[in-house]
Amino acid sequence: MENFYRLPEYLLTNYINHPAVLRRMNISIFGSGYVGLVTGACLANLGHTVLCVDVDEQRIENLKKNILPIFEPGLPELVVKNSTEHRLFFTTNAKEAVETADIIFITVGTPQSEYGQADLRFVYDVAETIGKYMNGYKVIVDKSTVPVGTADNVRAIIQKNQISGEKFHFDLVSNPEFLREGEAIYDFMNPDRIVIGVENENAKEIITNLYKGIERTEKPIFITDIKSSEIIKYAANAFLATKISFMNQIAQLCEKAGGDVKEVSKGIGLDQRIGSRFLQAGVGWGGSCFPKDVQALIYTAEKLRVPFQLLRAVHEVNTQQKKSLLPKIEKLAGNLHGKIITVLGLSFKPKTDDIRDAPAHIIIQELLAAGAIVQAFDPVAMENTKKLFPKIQYCQNTYEAAAESECIVIVTEWDEFRYLDLKKIRDVMKQPTIVDGRNIYDPKEVHALGFRYIGVGRNVWQEGSI
Ligand SMILES: NC(=O)c1ccc[n+]([C@@H]2O[C@H](COP(=O)([O-])OP(=O)(O)OC[C@H]3O[C@@H](n4cnc5c(N)ncnc54)[C@H](O)[C@@H]3O)[C@@H](O)[C@H]2O)c1
Repeated sequence: MENFYRLPEYLLTNYINHPAVLRRMNISIFGSGYVGLVTGACLANLGHTVLCVDVDEQRIENLKKNILPIFEPGLPELVVKNSTEHRLFFTTNAKEAVETADIIFITVGTPQSEYGQADLRFVYDVAETIGKYMNGYKVIVDKSTVPVGTADNVRAIIQKNQISGEKFHFDLVSNPEFLREGEAIYDFMNPDRIVIGVENENAKEIITNLYKGIERTEKPIFITDIKSSEIIKYAANAFLATKISFMNQIAQLCEKAGGDVKEVSKGIGLDQRIGSRFLQAGVGWGGSCFPKDVQALIYTAEKLRVPFQLLRAVHEVNTQQKKSLLPKIEKLAGNLHGKIITVLGLSFKPKTDDIRDAPAHIIIQELLAAGAIVQAFDPVAMENTKKLFPKIQYCQNTYEAAAESECIVIVTEWDEFRYLDLKKIRDVMKQPTIVDGRNIYDPKEVHALGFRYIGVGRNVWQEGSI
């Protein structure tokens, strides 16, 4: 997959003799997806020997040939470097992976189940495998996002599946992951904090050693108990989702009352108690984490008889927000039947090809239901989207996607959409109109270029038109 990333100097360093890495460990990582591959490549780059395991044979065959299953800036370079230097390996052989490891990471998916709860089937499968093949003391680190209490179940499953007469001792660690797709390598090497839930000193020392050598060691390694650690991950994601939903509701108010949500966001973000990040109004949050994690936290809380009304509202606001684009498009383009509408951005956020729960899905479905012809462009997420929407038109670039269009809809704020030649865009469109779901343009500037424009919670193409 094409990549635009240049590895920063510190990742090109050979860490083999890095003084901060006290003991090199043999690490096996179960699950070679976004989290597993980034964790594996970064730990290998710190000098550890890493074996990435997956049940997906094709994925592993490709990885052995340096063909990556995901787009993540910098990851291909890091995989090639560490594979070539014999620190990073790939296998489907779970027995070998368990037997050779000092530390085993669990980084498999925990998708949403029918009633909102996390589906822990893949985590428990790995626990079973670990139990079955355990041949000595291991530290087992859960990096998948799992509900509070999961470590207890993992422990029980491992114990139950140890089949040899000898029951080997092991320690469990909860080490939730906070990386952002698109910035994952930077985040791994420069975390705000590393959360480690442990139950004894031995495991604490082993895992703390493991992270020695990452760039900003002044950032805290936060040691806590396992249950608190499991809750921290969900609480962090739910809080961030809450910030966004809050701003989206303020945006709805701005649209009715006047005012610009970007100004409001700046004005409140300057308050250090609030902070400026995650205050951008937009088309609603999606992706592989927030939607499922919010639902799973609601489920866990309510199972324990703690009705989480606040998070229910956060989810509800998000659902409304995802549906807020269509009326705006109709306002500018009228009846959409037979009209070409351009959708820019298909991934749930920039710099990733991940389309899980992407807001683009909702608007594409709605446009198709309204009889529109959808022309779409995304720098890296088109291949994945084709599997879901095979019949829409996928274009080579933004200008092709804008050709003969009656409205451009910005769904994902890729940088290249910020710096388009808007005059050229205007000239190829049938009607120069923009619905800016991420507020990336200045309404006055685009209006001056002849576009009719509606953003989110801010100025519109014509005074008083919302
Ligand atoms: N993607 C993110 O940005 C992110 C960030 C923080 C936390 N997380 C959490 O990390 C976990 C993993 O997420 P992801 O996005 O990397 O998932 P993913 O779907 O990209 O990858 C999961 C991988 O696990 C493999 N797998 C399933 N069962 C297996 C087994 N028994 N043995 C070996 N491999 C197996 C799958 O084939 C797949 O390749 C989830 O709990 C997620 O919530 C994800």
